[in-house]
Parts: sequence; structure tokens; C-alpha cells
Amino acid sequence: MNNQNGHHSWPEKVGIIDVEIYFPSFYVDQNELENHDNVSKGKYTIGLGQSKMGFCSDREDINSLCLTVVEQLMQKRGLSYSQIGRLEVGTETIIDKSKSVKTVLMELFKESGNHDVEGVDSTNACYGGTAALFNSVAWVESSAWDGRYALVVAGDIAVYAEGNARPTGGAGAIAMLIGPNAPIVLERGLRSTYMEHVYDFYKPNLMSEYPTVDGKLSVQSYAKALDKCYDGFCRKAEKLHKTKGKKCFTLKDLDAMLFHTPYCKLVQKSLGRLAFNDFLRNSGSELEDQYRGLEMYRDLKLEDTYFNKEVEKAFVDHSRTMFEKMTKPSLLIAKEVGNMYTPSLYACLVSYIASQSIEALQGIRVGMFSYGSGLAATLFSLRFSDDISKGSPLRALHDSLQSIKHRLASRMEVSPKRFTEILKLRDNTHHQAPYTPIGKIEDLFPNTWYLEHVDEKHRRSYLQKKETPCIQRNGCITKMNVMNCESTKVAEDFCKVSATPIRLSESVQPV
Ligand code: ACO
Repeated sequence: MNNQNGHHSWPEKVGIIDVEIYFPSFYVDQNELENHDNVSKGKYTIGLGQSKMGFCSDREDINSLCLTVVEQLMQKRGLSYSQIGRLEVGTETIIDKSKSVKTVLMELFKESGNHDVEGVDSTNACYGGTAALFNSVAWVESSAWDGRYALVVAGDIAVYAEGNARPTGGAGAIAMLIGPNAPIVLERGLRSTYMEHVYDFYKPNLMSEYPTVDGKLSVQSYAKALDKCYDGFCRKAEKLHKTKGKKCFTLKDLDAMLFHTPYCKLVQKSLGRLAFNDFLRNSGSELEDQYRGLEMYRDLKLEDTYFNKEVEKAFVDHSRTMFEKMTKPSLLIAKEVGNMYTPSLYACLVSYIASQSIEALQGIRVGMFSYGSGLAATLFSLRFSDDISKGSPLRALHDSLQSIKHRLASRMEVSPKRFTEILKLRDNTHHQAPYTPIGKIEDLFPNTWYLEHVDEKHRRSYLQKKETPCIQRNGCITKMNVMNCESTKVAEDFCKVSATPIRLSESVQPV
């Protein structure tokens, strides 16, 4: 990039230009699941704060989820695949120990002739999407940048063995377009990371989709990582802004605070925990009113309070108003779909944008806490653009996400019995070769990519469900064909309510 004087200049305001989300067309109701699992009424819905859980049949895998969301984003933006110079995938849904999901996505690039696309997959539990985002932003800000966009994809299928972790599953994928002059910018120099070796949640059995989980340790590790990241973030923010005469950074310096969301209750407790951090970091007579009734907790140490229910309740109560404003709007998708693992934090960003008026998004500053078991965690911050004028990038992004509620409502409810059978089928056939899935194609949302077959050498082929008018992508994905052109009830509803009409790109031809 050259400036007016012919000198080289680095791109400015690098960040998220656009986002698209995909979640599966099936869900199980958590009320029904409580009955089915014979647990006390309210355990999943009140205790965990979840209302529905999205899941996939054997027709979808990590590759198909990512194919679907990347194509949705490219079509929404009307972009050519030749405009992408980097593609990064974050996932922990591993179906191949060598071949990346990224290389499968290159099939979408085939017709454009663009094979000059950097980036592969990043894996560490739910953190991979954040690693992919940081890599992509760094590429745009680096000497290697060639002026094209980066694409970040985060996707996962979160399924647990039968037992107390199962209601905290979910599934979905996010695609984010990264470039300069973005409406949502990552704040420079303001990032705090905490990493440690912990066996809280891991996947040592490579033949199974299910993780090995120490639930209690995972919750404690999440809280510890949050404390450590927040402390580092506050220190960096205070150092950066010391010239402005402000002493301590607190939650009040943010307009919104979003979290990786395994289940919504943990997030409300986490905001309370940050309020507790603020309380311990800040003292003085001028704050007496603000913290009245909490004085007895003044001498506690963070590390002694991970499971202190009294402190937890006191600070959840203390931060309730902040939670309603700063965090609750971000939980729309998490409550209805569940833990998506790598996309979880970014689904919260989508939910937050979709739930606010455009005026409420103008110039805001958003804290983002990313957590991946094992563990890797970062707290970073985003700045939204001040420009919300007609046709501005932020307004366009906001408007394009207005269909989310309708898309959630267009899903198909499946009974817990059927849900359990489908998970059993996935479990029994995971890694089977050859294998042809049996899940119904007509139940998928229109334009969803799905697994057609796994051959005897474990090579997977994918097709795309198309609605009338039937379209064919020449040469894209082996065996791409005209297929299922009937609209299902779900499909019709989806088409009616979608605010982003599907436009055919040049590479897609009507048949
Ligand atoms: N009505 C209302 N609340 C209830 C009811 C009821 N009938 N029954 C239980 N509860 C409450 C409990 O009091 C508890 O609340 P608390 O956390 O405020 O104490 C909550 O519901 C959960 O109940 P527990 O008995 O503690 O739940 P359990 O131990 O069975 O499982 C857990 C919870 C550990 C989160 C489990 O689902 C799990 O292992 N999930 C996967 C791991 C995970 O998500 N970890 C989070 C970070 S790591 C990651 O993202 C994967």
C-alpha cells in the first residue's frame, strides 16, 4: 500500500468487515431433555441457563459445516474467491490427523483458479477460532500482506457422551471477513493471554467424537484463566492510558463484555467474577457507596474463591444491571444452540450485534474473553466504527444479521429419544469407511453442504442441497450434481424470512 507521497504505509483499522453464521436445522428442547434424562426439573434450563441445543445428523461433519458458512459469507458479500489471500480455520472437530479442513475448503476456490491462499487449521479446544483470527489480522498488518482479504472460519460439532456434560453440547460455524478499514477493529496493544497445562477437557480417544471431561476442573480453569487475563488486560489498559490521568481500568470502561459460552449460567457468573476482580483491585472512600454491603470480602484472594458460592452470589447480584446491558444480549444464539466450541465467542458477537439498534453500536468498545481447555485463553477488545450512516459497513453488517431470530425459529424440534438415537448413530459410525450417511437431506436448510459418502480410503465427498431454481456449480466438489429440488417446510420458512437473498455468483450456473 502506498500513501500519497509514494511511501509505504501499513493498513489501518484492521478487523472484522463481515460475519456469517451457520447452525444446524435440528434442535432438542432442554426442558424435554430434563424429563428424558430424569434429572430434577430446571437443572438444564435454570441451573445451566440453556433452552435448546443444536445438533447434526450423520449428514454433517466439520468439513460440510465450514463449506456451508464460507459459501454463505462469500455470496452475501458478492465476493470472488480470487479476492481471498488467506484462509484460516479454527476447530477441535478432528476427522483427519493430517489433512486440514482448510484444504477441503479450497474446493470452493477451484473455479476462480486461486490457489495462492495462505493459512491452515489451528487447534486447541475452543480457542482455535481466536488463534485463526489473530493470525489473519497479523497477516493483514504484516509485510507479507498482498492487499487481499483474509477469511477466518471457526466450526465445531460439540457432542458429549451420555451423562451430565451432554446438555452442554451444540454445533455450528462462523466465517469472518478480515481486512483494513473494518467497522469492527481489534484494539492495538490491548490483549492479555494466559496459558497453562491442564487436563480439564481433552480428546485422547481419536476414534471417538466425545471428549474426556473433568467438569469441575474445567469450570475452575475457566475462572482462573479469566482472572489472569483480566488482570493482564487491566494493567495494559492502564499503562496505555496513563497519560489521561485515569487510575484504574474497570468494567465501566467497556460497553459490552462477551465470553466464550459453554452454557449461559457460567457467563453470568463470569461477569460477576470480573466485578469481584474490579472490587479487589479498587478501593478508596469514594467507592464505599458502590460496594456497600460487600466489605467483608475485601481481604479474600481470587484463587481461594473459585467455588465460594457466597462470593459468587454477592457479585452476580452486584453486577446484575451490568449483565443485562453488557452481556445478556450476546447470549441469544448460545441459549438456543448451545456450546459451539470455537465459534462460541463469535456467535456471541453476532448475537450482540443482531440484538442492538444500530445507534447502540456506534463507537462502542467490546471486551472479548476466549477460552479453550487444556488451556489457552485471551482477553482482547474490539472498537466499533463511529460511522453508522446509510450504506456504512457497520450498518450493512448489522442489517445482514437481522434474520438470526427467524433462522433460529425456523429449525426443527427433535425429541430427546430421536436425538439420543442420532447421537448413537454418529458414535457407531464415526470414522467408519466405507460409509454412506442415512440422515434425511430434506431436513437440512437450503444451500447446506452435506456428506454424501466416505469411501473405503476414508475420502469424503460432499453435495449441496439446492432449492428451485436448481443450480449447479461446475466442477466444484467431486460428484457435484443437481439434487433435491423440493422445498421442505423448514426450507420454505427459511427462504421467506431470510434477509439475505441468495445471489448466484458467476461461478454458479442455472441448469
Ligand atoms: N433447578 C435449578 N438449578 C439446578 C437444579 C434444578 N433442579 N439442579 C441443579 N441445578 C444447578 C446446580 O445447583 C448448579 O448450579 P451452580 O453451578 O450455580 O452450583 C447447576 O445447576 C449445574 O448443576 P451441577 O450438579 O453442578 O451440574 P453437573 O455437575 O451435573 O454438570 C457441568 C455441570 C460440570 C458444567 C457439566 O455439564 C460439564 O462437564 N460440561 C462440560 C464442560 C464445560 O462445559 N465446562 C466449561 C468450560 S470448558 C468448555 O467450554 C468445554
